[in-house]
Amino acid sequence: MSTFQAPKGTYDLLPPSSATYLAVREAIAAPLRNSGYGYVETPGFENVELFARGVGESTDIVTKEMYAFETKGGDKLALRPEGTASVLRAALEANLHKAGNLPVKLWYSGSYYRYERPQKGRYRHFSQVGAEAIGAEDPALDAELIILADQAYRSLGLRNFRILLNSLGDKECRPVYRAALQDFLRSLDLDEETLRRAEINPLRVLDDKRADVQKQLADAPLMPDYLCEACKAYHKEVRELLDAAGVVYEDDAKLVRGLDYYTRTTFEFVHDGLGSQSAVGGGGRYDGLSEMIGGPSLPSVGWALGVDRTVLALEAEGVDLQLPATTSVFAVPLGEEARRVLFGKVTELRKAGIATDFSFGGKGLKGAMKNANRSGARFTLVAGERDLAEGVVQLKDMESGEQGPVALDAIVSTLQAKLG
Ligand code: HAM
Repeated sequence: MSTFQAPKGTYDLLPPSSATYLAVREAIAAPLRNSGYGYVETPGFENVELFARGVGESTDIVTKEMYAFETKGGDKLALRPEGTASVLRAALEANLHKAGNLPVKLWYSGSYYRYERPQKGRYRHFSQVGAEAIGAEDPALDAELIILADQAYRSLGLRNFRILLNSLGDKECRPVYRAALQDFLRSLDLDEETLRRAEINPLRVLDDKRADVQKQLADAPLMPDYLCEACKAYHKEVRELLDAAGVVYEDDAKLVRGLDYYTRTTFEFVHDGLGSQSAVGGGGRYDGLSEMIGGPSLPSVGWALGVDRTVLALEAEGVDLQLPATTSVFAVPLGEEARRVLFGKVTELRKAGIATDFSFGGKGLKGAMKNANRSGARFTLVAGERDLAEGVVQLKDMESGEQGPVALDAIVSTLQAKLG
């Protein structure tokens, strides 16, 4: 161990379990790549104002959880707590929305940072794969994204997740609802901080986890009862498209999200095996965000799925991803000459696309075979001086235990044939 440890709320991804993380990222990205989403990558930090304005001045993310700092040059920056504001900023900066090809559909994968109280499933550094469809108001786009996330989770073998769906209305009907909810909250017996939240961000109070608060909220006015005709029709169509696609969801009139930019469709993917940090992913429509950060009107929708929590969900369901072995062939030289010759063969095998590793460090046969076993390789190549004198190496099938000589110049073709 060194003097240092990973900072609080962070952890290292190490082999072999790191392979699961890669596979999860890949599984979430695959349906997006298959559906017209192009890859976008933005910096790990941005102007702090982007998040303050985008995510919302009154959100926990901005007030309590942001890693904000000032550079030596006086720039006020923040490590990104989420991806949506950055991706929209990048799209606007590059004028992607002016290319006459709306919606601009983008996907991303990366690290995000929130100064949260760490616990299982809640980290200060975590990983998301996300998707944003920018510049179109079309219920089919909302449905598409939910369907693709559902497909990603199912392709991983997850079954015990639920989709919670709500509409948060638009700039016409939300203020009316907000006022009604505020009136209701003022009449309750709430602590001071919660009453303050009711003034700044009343919808967040609906998300309060405390039982005594929830009890008082039983008769709270609910957003679906306040939706204007346009929002109602929009939401109906999203639901119909999901029904037609066979995607099962639950209407959750109290679903609010921790970010302020949402309008209309909002959704969360929750997994029942994860305890309190049950949201494995979430998203929704953010029709006003572009204007909030100085852009034109660009109604948009997106989601982000948490990679860390998706891995925990796989563990909770006991899903073992069938990951291909990373090494197919392990080469073990015995002696200097064999080392030179086999190392050359290893390079040839790799060029031929066969995943091959080599026994480094001049180990004896016993130690090298231990490494070969640990590598999970299907075949080993062992060569000593006598083999080389005969122009062969010994090829061992690690599953059947069978072993036999193969001519040096037939190694690549023999292994290609055996590995299919
Ligand atoms: P979010 O709900 O804040 O949404 O995060 C999405 C997912 O990231 C969560 O469901 C969770 O799985 C994961 N996540 C968030 N915080 C943590 C944490 N501290 N530790 C581990 N995992 C975490 C957004 O970030 C929005 N940008 C989603 C979006 C995209 N909306 C529209 N487009």
